[in-house]
Amino acid sequence: MKHLIFVLLVSLPGLVAAELTAPLQSPDLDVFDTESLRRGAKLYGERCIGCHSLKHMRYKRIQKDLKLSDEDLKTLFPWLDKPTGTMTTAMPPDDAEKWFGLPTPDLSERIRARGADWVYTFLRSFYQDDGRPFGVNNWVFNDVGMPHVLWDLQGTQKAVVKDEKGTPVIKKLELVSPGSLTKKEFDLAVNDLVNFLNYVAEPAQIKRKKIGKYVLFYLIVLAFIMYRLKKVYWKEIH
Ligand code: HEC
Repeated sequence: MKHLIFVLLVSLPGLVAAELTAPLQSPDLDVFDTESLRRGAKLYGERCIGCHSLKHMRYKRIQKDLKLSDEDLKTLFPWLDKPTGTMTTAMPPDDAEKWFGLPTPDLSERIRARGADWVYTFLRSFYQDDGRPFGVNNWVFNDVGMPHVLWDLQGTQKAVVKDEKGTPVIKKLELVSPGSLTKKEFDLAVNDLVNFLNYVAEPAQIKRKKIGKYVLFYLIVLAFIMYRLKKVYWKEIH
């Protein structure tokens, strides 16, 4: 019996990895890191908004939460005339259908459905595949319909495939030609992007977490006052 449990425990990680296809990695998320959120917003404006709207997010809200002047906002989103309205995409849904064969999803809340680890790993897991329309595939999203829009930053990756009982299985991705960023810089840039998307999914978390700190402080002060009061009352009774 002990032997059986041991075998199961040893083989468990292998089974899980096979199911998940690629091992997911976790980004560092911090809604109070305004600099990271700004960098993420800028990259989103440069590389993603052409296809993916963030229809629940208002420019005014970003401006307020990320403490941006009108000028800062203009640096982040140079095409923006006035900081009004929501972050819709410039591409009409019909064109998206025509070019990609499917509507490009709004990303306001996708990070909640997929999880930040999935999105972080997804954006770093494109690899060369000449059989696909855009010449790339993705390790966590097989036959993905999205081109590798960050390829010039990351460079080109190749899948290292091993044959396992007749089925080719990807073991890892290898950088074959570097992009303009080092691996570390690229990971940080994607981290900022995911941090931004995580903030967009629930902008109120900035306020909620701040209020949480105040409430805790208030409770501690209250507990202290109650303790002093109790001492005073008990003195009178004795
Ligand atoms: C040229 C258009 C285009 C651009 C630019 C683009 N995407 Fe995509 N993206 C797509 C399409 C199309 C899909 C749907 C893929 C599918 O279902 O096969 C997709 C899917 C996704 C998904 C998966 C959504 C889900 O849960 O199924 C994420 C996350 C994503 N994109 C993030 C990004 C980010 C972040 C950027 C900017 C760095 C970006 N995309 C830029 C076209 C684009």
